[in-house]
Amino acid sequence: MCGSIAAYKAVDVCRRLVDAGCHVAPVMTAGAARFLGPATLSALASEPVHASLWADTDPVPHTSLGRRADVVVVVPATATLLAKYAAGIADDLLTATLLATRAPVIVCPAMHTEMWEHPATVDNVATLRRRGVVVVGPVVGRLAGGDEGAGRLAGVEDILFATERALTAKDLAGRHVLVTGGGTREPLDPVRFLGNHSSGKQGEAIAVEAATRGATVTLVTAADRPPPAGVEVVAVATAAEMEVEVLRRAASADVVVMAAAVADFRPATVAEHKVHKAGGPPEVVLEPTVDILAELGRRRHPGQVLVGFAAETADLREGAQRKLKEKHLDLIVANDLTAPGAGFGHDTNAASVLDAAGNWTEVARTSKRRLASIVLGLVAGLLSAQGLAAGTANPPTTGGGT
Ligand code: CTP
Repeated sequence: MCGSIAAYKAVDVCRRLVDAGCHVAPVMTAGAARFLGPATLSALASEPVHASLWADTDPVPHTSLGRRADVVVVVPATATLLAKYAAGIADDLLTATLLATRAPVIVCPAMHTEMWEHPATVDNVATLRRRGVVVVGPVVGRLAGGDEGAGRLAGVEDILFATERALTAKDLAGRHVLVTGGGTREPLDPVRFLGNHSSGKQGEAIAVEAATRGATVTLVTAADRPPPAGVEVVAVATAAEMEVEVLRRAASADVVVMAAAVADFRPATVAEHKVHKAGGPPEVVLEPTVDILAELGRRRHPGQVLVGFAAETADLREGAQRKLKEKHLDLIVANDLTAPGAGFGHDTNAASVLDAAGNWTEVARTSKRRLASIVLGLVAGLLSAQGLAAGTANPPTTGGGT
């Protein structure tokens, strides 16, 4: 942590990393200590603040801190820190640690616009980027003293995302992963729709996990949630819109994960105006939607990995086996929607994952993010397995397509 008014936000980053299971060793510059009491950071981090090359009980704190780090994140990074780091100056514990570490380094600059845009800072940032340092932000927004402009510290979510990305094996690097999420809404009239309870959290977890593993990710979602960091988000409402957006992108995707709860039926006609109750209960005629996943199964190209979900309330395994076969999938993630802490709306899920070879992976109740990690681990295995191109793993028996 460097000396900047944005230092207080580093406290949140620290707390969130500790919550996520990281061991956080806090290092503060003398400037940082002017903005934030070291006791605050010591209390929230995993060990007391390290602030000096000399006061530490460790005779060589910079090398031991640098060596035991899996990632070094500088939040906030001042213009001075960037300049010293670019020049290789190591005159305090933080800069010495940055020079002594072999771990990935992330810097999150925060300063006034004039300083950020100064040619010296621009050159220093370019130098650091060229050396592989990840620069997160800054963003445009409110600055110290009521000013506005470029130089505001990046959002906590973006910093956490970059950190997680630096810590995660990039087994999906170079891959395009297309994910769907949320429950579609099929309009009855301008104010009502037929929908389901899907929250979109599982699809989002898969999208974020894929991005942290190095993939280029597109999330086509019917859920009304803030867009996650590191993912391209395409918002849709209906099954028909999802069909268009997914099929348009599927041909160039290496992996497609259909986590969305897509309506199987929609009202055959949508009333132009609000249906009033005076007319009595309306009769709603439904018509089928396109099964997007089945269509993807027909269109899949060799090497593409196709993952479906099976939302079940009974006969989980039978339903999953049938859907995997009928839709020509490589993997199906079967959810028992009646299990405690699983399925719609929860932050946790439990699932049985079936592959095309008939292997089951049982995932007891866990976070949706961890389930995403397990599913994408299986996907990465399929992608890297020699000769396990999707087209040969479970070929479609009918159709064809583009
Ligand atoms: N799916 C889809 N398009 C639809 C319906 C479902 O792409 N119109 C996808 C879902 O995203 C999911 C998988 O198909 O990945 C299975 O969805 P699910 O609702 O469990 O099963 P259905 O195939 O709809 O069959 P059923 O309603 O009989 O359970």
